[in-house]
Amino acid sequence: MSYAFSCRAFAILWMILISPGLGAESIGPLPPVPSNPDNLPNEARMTLGRALFFDNRISATGTMNCASCHLPHQGWTVHTPISPANPGRVERRNSPTLLNVGYNKALIWDGRAWPLEKQAIGSTKNPIHKGQDIDKLMALFNGDPEMVKLFEAAYGSKPNAADYGKALAVFQRHFIVTGDSDFDRYMKGDKQAMSPAAVRGMTLFTGKAGCVACHSGPNLTDSDFHNIGLAANPMLADDVHQEILRFDAKRMEVPNWESINIDPGRFLVTKNAADLNKFKTPTLRNLQDTFPYMHDGRYRTLDEVIEYYNRGGDGAPGQDPRVRELKLSASEKGDLKAFLMALRGSLPDIRMQDWVRPVDVERGKALDGKTLFEGKGTCVNCHQRDGNGVPGTFPPLANNPRVTAGDGSYVARTIIYGREGRVEIHGKVFDAVMPPIGEQQGLSDEEIAAIASYVRNSWGNQADGVSPETVREQRQPRAQP
Ligand code: HEC
Ligand code: HEC
Ligand code: HEC
Repeated sequence: MSYAFSCRAFAILWMILISPGLGAESIGPLPPVPSNPDNLPNEARMTLGRALFFDNRISATGTMNCASCHLPHQGWTVHTPISPANPGRVERRNSPTLLNVGYNKALIWDGRAWPLEKQAIGSTKNPIHKGQDIDKLMALFNGDPEMVKLFEAAYGSKPNAADYGKALAVFQRHFIVTGDSDFDRYMKGDKQAMSPAAVRGMTLFTGKAGCVACHSGPNLTDSDFHNIGLAANPMLADDVHQEILRFDAKRMEVPNWESINIDPGRFLVTKNAADLNKFKTPTLRNLQDTFPYMHDGRYRTLDEVIEYYNRGGDGAPGQDPRVRELKLSASEKGDLKAFLMALRGSLPDIRMQDWVRPVDVERGKALDGKTLFEGKGTCVNCHQRDGNGVPGTFPPLANNPRVTAGDGSYVARTIIYGREGRVEIHGKVFDAVMPPIGEQQGLSDEEIAAIASYVRNSWGNQADGVSPETVREQRQPRAQP
């Protein structure tokens, strides 16, 4: 068979097999999530998986669980450009949403882990994430009669690493799923479900704007890796992030890891130069819940993302030619955004307080603010032990005028309600959101007051902090996510 012939045969085959899938047909409503025949879901497995997901014991420091970086309150991601990390370390990437993760055919921004059953174990051992020793963790669980019962009900054996990974996989695959969006209802035949603007936006998405070339399939991702041309991120230029980029490249056995100064993406896995700067196509479902965007969280709004594609990308070396100048009018950009917004389905129904099992941080010292800051409060996950911030990621509390001002109720309010805004850290300005960690960790008024006093008196002035009564006055019911 000649080369020319095989090319033509391939082209024809391609047209028959694949091209009907391109265009509007290749996106559609979510089918039931595919299950793993070796790990079918049932109630006992779901209960175990959910308990593990929120259990702080899975991290070496006892302050982190899966929800520390995949917060149900924050679209099962974290609304900070760069994810939190194991205390004492920093991350270099944005935490991806776990919404509809069961539909993905590749995991991690560079596709290094597969499937969910194994990823959960890798994530637990990962020194940047939880740094936990799996054998130690299993010994801990085997000494906890309640855990033993949950494992036996789910898999018929005592706590062990394989079933640990399986239970976490079941919970993620079958629980963290979105309900019907306007788009799903529209595709199932309800032609009123999407606004005319969103319908026009879908035509752009699958046509002129060319988004569907990569954002295809029911979860709006081809589970493949592409270089969309993003310029190097100055947020990663400081020493701590440079160090973590090299640490990871070394871990992935990249030759010349010492010279790595950007996130090389898929290259870390394949060591193939053609894969430099390629990252996994993310889902576009529930974007309202999953900001900020891109593997490094560099864009806060959809308008910024649409503008990026409209101008044809940054043109970094190796940019995929399908990312090209689009020349969309203002109303076309609005239509495209309306379509992206129509991809939002209902969120899984969960009340975190029902699940979080706070660690018992030396009960006797429970009202010691420092112990709470580094333990049950989990503040140390995002604010360093010495009160210093992480450049470009989390604000410092030491020498921070907002922390030192007033009587400390600013700190208490932040713990209760979280905080959202623009912060300047070491001369870099960025948007971030702190979760309402008080609710998430089930902190009592007394505990919040103790932490607020500690923060203010360690890194602020030495006047007295807030009292439990002030905290109580500030408390108002919060809407559930
Ligand atoms: C310290 C923060 C942190 C913790 C804790 C954490 N994750 Fe993640 N998770 C991340 C980051 C960051 C990534 C992306 C990593 C990368 O691309 O290198 C990620 C990626 C993932 C992915 C891949 C998703 C996708 O679509 O590619 C899954 C699944 C996942 N985490 C599950 C878990 C589970 C289960 C736990 C608990 C056992 C957990 N994570 C704990 C930060 C965290
Ligand atoms: C060549 C493949 C490709 C094309 C074409 C493409 N994308 Fe993407 N998209 C990606 C990849 C890969 C990423 C992740 C890039 C990264 O983080 O480095 C991404 C990221 C995004 C994100 C951020 C999502 C998140 O949660 O971080 C949005 C939104 C998005 N694309 C929308 C669009 C729209 C709208 C279009 C059409 C105008 C489009 N994309 C065209 C591959 C593509
Ligand atoms: C998941 C990460 C995370 C955790 C856990 C966390 N914070 Fe934060 N915190 C942040 C981020 C991000 C900001 C910046 C929010 C913004 O202003 O945009 C912040 C801001 C703050 C601020 C305001 C700083 C300023 O400059 O105004 C205070 C005070 C604070 N946190 C205290 C705490 C305390 C005390 C705890 C523990 C009870 C805690 N945080 C837990 C991420 C976190």
